[in-house]
Amino acid sequence: MKIISVVGARPNFMKIAPFIRAIEKHNSGDGEKVEHLLVHTGQHYDHQMSQTFFDALNIPPADIHLGVGSGTHAEQVGNTMIAFEKVVMEEKPDWVVVVGDVNATLACSVTAKKLHVKCCHIEAGLRSGDERMPEEINRLVTDRLSNLLLTPDLLSIENLKKEGVEDNRIGFVGNIMIDTLEAQREKAAALSISDVLKENLLLEDANIPAVEEEKYAVMTLHRPSNVDHKDIITALVEFLTREVASDMPLFWPIHPRARKQLEMFGLWDRVVNTPNLVLMRPIGYHDMLRLNMTARLFLTDSGGLQEECTVLGTPCLTLRWNTERPVTLLEHGGASVLVGNNVERIREEYHKAMDRERLAVRPELWDGHTAERCLEAIIKASN
Ligand code: UD1
Repeated sequence: MKIISVVGARPNFMKIAPFIRAIEKHNSGDGEKVEHLLVHTGQHYDHQMSQTFFDALNIPPADIHLGVGSGTHAEQVGNTMIAFEKVVMEEKPDWVVVVGDVNATLACSVTAKKLHVKCCHIEAGLRSGDERMPEEINRLVTDRLSNLLLTPDLLSIENLKKEGVEDNRIGFVGNIMIDTLEAQREKAAALSISDVLKENLLLEDANIPAVEEEKYAVMTLHRPSNVDHKDIITALVEFLTREVASDMPLFWPIHPRARKQLEMFGLWDRVVNTPNLVLMRPIGYHDMLRLNMTARLFLTDSGGLQEECTVLGTPCLTLRWNTERPVTLLEHGGASVLVGNNVERIREEYHKAMDRERLAVRPELWDGHTAERCLEAIIKASN
């Protein structure tokens, strides 16, 4: 059997690493071998957004690099489809495996299906219900087309069933990203917070405040809905610099898109000159895990971080109005609360979160063995 798996952007790398390890483990046994090719579309190309994750997670270099780069959605999806079509026609895989919900996921699932190649979607069934999110469109199309839909939780199975998906296309496997978290936990725990800060400062001469465990906050922000509108990002920056950073050190690894927008809206000097606010470049997997392990609070608009906060128990304010990952919410037993981008709501939930203790939770099958179940399901669906 021949599988092509696809990565394109940062959140894909921690999902593909365990899948590749599961194939290696399978191939060391007696059964029929799986031939595997890794394709990188090149959506994320900065060293810190891509190569660092290959190095840290021991992902072998991509066999094929499409070099698609940045652009509008249509440019990214279109260019990926044109380049990936050639790969599929040349390599003739039995399966294309896509993960998550980025533009590479959509582009490669559509391309595979048009060439009559079976497609498996790992992390299927997530729905935010918000079609203004590019990722929601990617999820809807990918799940509509994929032959095998492997879900991280039971709520996702309900979503697929509501859409009329037949039972034999659905498999419940758990959360593959948590495989990576479990595999890397020990290595991350051995890092010191002050080293993580020193090695990742965005501005070399910046002051690092004194830091104690469970007395600092971490934030990430990159969604267009938060960073692309001047009034929204200005209000968020006001709150973060005046209120959060005055209560405790606040670490902010900055996504390239957020930095560009802060500069464009004239907010850059403000964030640079706030004492207690430590600007960091995009940080590596272990560094982020280490900061998360003993953070007092996380503020984020990332999907993956909501899940990591749940498993680590870090109180998390999700700067979105909806989530495709309800299993991470407090009302479902998780660690996160949806606060949108309205500062009054964020402030109210911020004070409540500061009163909550850390509480680690483990949704069903988030047990570190999801990748093996994914490969088993693909093999079973091939027979
Ligand atoms: C993409 C994913 C999003 C995911 C996020 C994680 C889609 C639709 N979105 O959003 O789901 O949460 O990745 O980061 O696929 N840029 C660089 N260097 C890079 C990559 C990007 O400078 O290596 C800059 C470019 O100016 C680019 C912008 O960041 O235009 C946005 O990058 P893009 O890949 O289009 O989307 P993300 O916001 O990263």
